[in-house]
Amino acid sequence: MTEPKLTRPCVDNLTPYSPGKPIEEVQREFGLTDIVKLASNENPLGPSPKAVEAICQAASEVWLYPDNDCYHLRRALSEKLGFPGEQILLGHGSDGLIHNICLAFVSPGDEVMMSTAPFSTWDFNAKLMDGTPVYVPMVDFRYDTEAMAARVSARTKVVFIGNPHNPTGAMVTKAELEALLAALTDSTILVMDEAYYDYVDDPEYPDSLALVKEGRPVIVLRTFSKSCGLAGLRVGYGATTPQLADALGRVREPFDVNSVAQAAALASLQDPAQVERAKALNDESKEAMYAAFERLGLAYTKSYANFVWVDVGRDCREVFLELLKLGVIVRTGDIFGAPMHIRVSTGTAEQTKRFADALQEVLGGPAG
Ligand SMILES: Cc1ncc(COP(=O)(O)O)c(C=O)c1O
Repeated sequence: MTEPKLTRPCVDNLTPYSPGKPIEEVQREFGLTDIVKLASNENPLGPSPKAVEAICQAASEVWLYPDNDCYHLRRALSEKLGFPGEQILLGHGSDGLIHNICLAFVSPGDEVMMSTAPFSTWDFNAKLMDGTPVYVPMVDFRYDTEAMAARVSARTKVVFIGNPHNPTGAMVTKAELEALLAALTDSTILVMDEAYYDYVDDPEYPDSLALVKEGRPVIVLRTFSKSCGLAGLRVGYGATTPQLADALGRVREPFDVNSVAQAAALASLQDPAQVERAKALNDESKEAMYAAFERLGLAYTKSYANFVWVDVGRDCREVFLELLKLGVIVRTGDIFGAPMHIRVSTGTAEQTKRFADALQEVLGGPAG
């Protein structure tokens, strides 16, 4: 008897998310104890001690459902971003917000534009809604916003821009964004995914919140996962127009930001010095990585985020495996369509050195 087909057709085309290899898995597989994971763009400094304290305090209250409206966190973000509370978005990571965006706005056949080597959650959720992903090629691992503008059609419902982009770390400048904005009408939603916003310090970085203030159909996404070191708690946030925020509020799952996460995120906002420390550590690590790549003669993309995209000149899977044997976990570029690249997250000074030494050993370059 043939089994009945129960899944929606689009499910057959979905690829489950492939996360960075967990530390424990590498310990089990290779019998190693001392592992450095630089694979998921986490923050090696960890959360603010104030957040940890808030987590401990919130722990005894977890028998209660969370505040569905995230009242205190929403108020704090409203003040930080300069929008009324109704325009503040909160979700189960920015991943959760990306899911809600596709759920609320993408109908079957709608085009969802993104670059090649997209952040996988955009692609996944576009397909989940039976949308049609449109991939516009990058040039030298940077967005080609003019090509994106030229590809906009009446069917383009959502455009995703990662700024900085994951996995390349490249930034879209004000002028580049202007080229795209000129081609967008009010029937296309521009999503500015700014997960790494706090790490950027460049006068050419566009002010996407100003676009929301102008009333354009723009959704700005940020997260507590990176600069605030709360990836394990899953809190994403952002801002958009009242109309788009209303639609997103209708599709969201109840209680999608848990109570411990709300408390930790709020406490993090009260400790901006920790974010500054995370930025400083990130800059130091990137500089050390750039120096190591230059010693090894490897081409890399200047990163505005907390990871670096580098051409290792060899099959990235081989390099990945050799690094694993030395206890260093990175991300291969093949999953993003770049078989000779790896993406390595920044680390502490010690972790960065471990990575640089291991890479040198694997590639057999000059000593650092
Ligand atoms: C560009 C981009 N957007 C969104 C996310 C998801 O972040 P969150 O942890 O808030 O779901 C990531 C995480 O790596 C990312 O790189």
